Amino acid sequence: MATYPNVVSPPFAEIFRTDYLMKGRWKDDFFGNGHPLVLELGCGKGEYTVALARKYPEKNFIGVDIKGARMWTGATDALQSKLDNAAFLRIRIEFIRSCFASGEASEIWITFPDPQPQQSRINKRLTSVRFLELYQNILRPNGIIHLKTDSESLFEYTRRVLLHNRLPIRWCTSDLYRSALPDEILSVQTYYEKMFTAKGFSIKYLQFTLPPGQLLCEPDGKTPETTL
Ligand SMILES: C[S@@+](CC[C@H](N)C(=O)[O-])C[C@H]1O[C@@H](n2cnc3c(N)ncnc32)[C@H](O)[C@@H]1O
Repeated sequence: MATYPNVVSPPFAEIFRTDYLMKGRWKDDFFGNGHPLVLELGCGKGEYTVALARKYPEKNFIGVDIKGARMWTGATDALQSKLDNAAFLRIRIEFIRSCFASGEASEIWITFPDPQPQQSRINKRLTSVRFLELYQNILRPNGIIHLKTDSESLFEYTRRVLLHNRLPIRWCTSDLYRSALPDEILSVQTYYEKMFTAKGFSIKYLQFTLPPGQLLCEPDGKTPETTL
């Protein structure tokens, strides 16, 4: 992938406690078109990054993941399909503030993140307050976040975070394919989605916004076990 023009893999020293050279410049300098920027966090093989880029040529998409072998699939697909509005960034999500400027992203997709059910790992959940605060920094005001998951516990936990902080929920379903799809793009199935669907799990979907500057806090530090 070192030769792929659509994969950026910054050395640790260029993102650790320092701003990466592309911060604030993705739209104009990397993509060269000034179009809105959408991120897929924990993109794995990048199915959403590629499908979204195909569907919305007037937007730019970056799939973020730490695992290069997985993103190779999406990066190769995007290259072969000549999708010049799709790219991949190989970093830990914890470093997104080093890579993206305030308000630089207009939307975030989080697709089948590790549910991290253990109480001690709340801060590792991609919808924990720790991560929402990072997103709040790089998202444009009231930018949209999409969460697709098979995990009941992560879905309920995320709902609790949203309700506790009174964050506007735009769409919420615990069984996406048994309800009216808000957008046909939601029928795209990732590698993990296919795996869990085959095991009989229903797919949950949440769409919400993050008001700028709002202080956020964890509901109670406990993993919820009951449906709200
Ligand atoms: C369960 S997989 C889902 C992959 C893909 N979205 C899908 O649905 O098939 C979770 C992905 O998130 C990535 N990931 C988890 N935590 C991460 C972090 N802190 N920084 C970067 N990537 C992370 C993993 O490397 C993995 O590819």
